Amino acid sequence: MSDPIRRVEPEVHPQVTVRRYSALTRVNHWTLAVSFVLLALSGLALFHPSLYWLATFFGGGPTLRALHPIIGCVLIVAWLLMFLRFAWANVPEKTDWIWLSRVRDVLSGHEEKLPEVGKYNAGQKLVFWAFSLLVPGLFLTGIAIWDQYFYTWTTIPQKRVAVLAHAILAIFMITVWIVHAYAAIWVQGTIQAMTRGYVTGGWAWRHHRKWLRDLVRGRKRPPPAAPAA
Ligand code: HEM
Repeated sequence: MSDPIRRVEPEVHPQVTVRRYSALTRVNHWTLAVSFVLLALSGLALFHPSLYWLATFFGGGPTLRALHPIIGCVLIVAWLLMFLRFAWANVPEKTDWIWLSRVRDVLSGHEEKLPEVGKYNAGQKLVFWAFSLLVPGLFLTGIAIWDQYFYTWTTIPQKRVAVLAHAILAIFMITVWIVHAYAAIWVQGTIQAMTRGYVTGGWAWRHHRKWLRDLVRGRKRPPPAAPAA
């Protein structure tokens, strides 16, 4: 595997970049993100008559109704792959409690007052475990009301409960997703982790210093110089 830490030497400043995600992980993540956005839009169209106009983007009501659960299947497969890849990095640690109790310092940009963070901070871990409950919950309640294939699997009273639970879980999911996407945009330099796969050395040092230290410790040679961009 290639070295995760690179030194890029343009004419003015030498810059260190650190690999955060492989191409495969990025494809996995964006499949998840796109399928979720499509599910949210099609789900909202089914949720309330005032939002039914969204069905136009899916080829009308009947097509949307057929597509929504199929996209749900794409989401659950993409999620399971993501879960298997990242569950280890989201296991809670003692220092996560300190991070959470000093979230004010995070918001005011004083991360130096907090314990060093590994691959993910406590906020990201909370989002990860919330997704881990919500995605399977949405999938199971969705199967319970997918009458085209699973009509006989549940009784009418069970379907009623499932419809309600599905809508409530969807509201939570949209809320957690907004927090996740907002945090990714708010912390400058994070989006490029999922688009290009690399972050700057400064980003890694500032936000995930323990992760960077572990990467450096695991590498025996000094960073190789990559051609200037
Ligand atoms: C369009 C919306 C989205 C944007 C802009 C976005 C952005 C990002 C970015 C930039 C990262 C890298 C964060 C880092 O390395 O520190 C990330 C990680 C991740 N994203 Fe998203 N994402 C979106 C949607 C989703 C959805 C819908 C899900 C799940 C259903 C999801 C699940 C994850 C997971 C599991 C990680 C790895 C972080 C962890 O394990 O805690 N993302 N996302």
